[in-house]
Amino acid sequence: MSSLWGTTHTPYGVYISGARFSFVVCVFNLYIMRGATFFGVSDLIEGKRVRLRSFELSDLDEIMRHWNNIELRNLVGSAGRGPVCRNDEEEWIKSTWKQRQERKAFTLAIETISDSKLIGGIGLFNIDWTSRSAMLGISIYGPQSRGKGYGQESINLILDFAFRILNLNRVELDTFDFNERAQKCYLKVGFKEVGRRRRARFIDGQYHDDIIMDILKDEWLAKSEE
Ligand SMILES: CC(C)(COP(=O)(O)OP(=O)(O)OC[C@H]1O[C@@H](n2cnc3c(N)ncnc32)[C@H](O)[C@@H]1OP(=O)(O)O)[C@@H](O)C(=O)NCCC(=O)NCCS
Repeated sequence: MSSLWGTTHTPYGVYISGARFSFVVCVFNLYIMRGATFFGVSDLIEGKRVRLRSFELSDLDEIMRHWNNIELRNLVGSAGRGPVCRNDEEEWIKSTWKQRQERKAFTLAIETISDSKLIGGIGLFNIDWTSRSAMLGISIYGPQSRGKGYGQESINLILDFAFRILNLNRVELDTFDFNERAQKCYLKVGFKEVGRRRRARFIDGQYHDDIIMDILKDEWLAKSEE
C-alpha cells in the first residue's frame, strides 16, 4: 500500500494531497472495510475464520509446497504450464502488487485468522471498469484445508469487496465439469450456471466441459441480507 500521508493514492485509487485529508480518507477506508480492526491496516479484508491480505515474499515456501502438485494444478487447469520454480513464484507475487496498484487485478492471499496460516489465494482479474464486470479465481492449496467452508467464506469476502467497495456489478468464474466441490461451493454462494464451453479443456487425458457461472451485485446483496 502506498503511503497514507501526503500526496499519494489510497488502496482504492483515490488521488489526494495533504496529510489531513489523507487521514480522513484512511479512517473512512477503515470504516468501510467491515471486519478490519480500527487500528489495523486498511488493505485487510477479514471474515470470521479467514482474512484476505496481500501476498508477501515470505509466502514463497508455502506456495512452493503446493503449487507443483498435479491434483491442484489439474483443478485450476494450469498443469499444462509445467512445473514452477521459486523465481517464477517470486515474480508472480511481485506482479500481484503491481496489478493491484494499477487496479488491473486484486489477487490476495487467504489466511486463517486463528493461526495466520496461508491456505490459498483468491483474485478478481480481467476487470472491465466500463461494464463493471470481473472474473474470479480461487485456490485452497492443501486437501486438508478443503471442504471446511474456507472457500465459501473467502468468496463472500471478495464479493463484498467487489460489490460494496469497488462497485462492480457482475462477477464471473469458470470451473470444470469434474470439479463437483467447486460447483457446489459456487452455487451455495449464489452463482448461477450460465453456459458451458463443451469439451473445451483437455485435462489429464480427457476433454472436459468448462462451466461458466456468474453472480450479479443485486443477487449477492439480496442473498447476503437473508
Ligand atoms: C473449490 C474450492 C475453492 C472450494 O472451497 P472449499 O473450502 O473446499 O469449499 P467449501 O467447504 O466452502 O464448500 C464446498 C461444498 O462442497 C462440499 N464438498 C466437499 N467436498 C466435496 C466433493 N469432493 N464433492 C462434492 N462436494 C464436496 C462441501 O461439503 C461443501 O458443501 P456444504 O457447505 O453443503 O457442506 C476449494 O476446494 C479449492 O480451492 N480446491 C482446489 C482448487 C480448485 O478446485 N479451485 C477452483 C477452480 S475453479
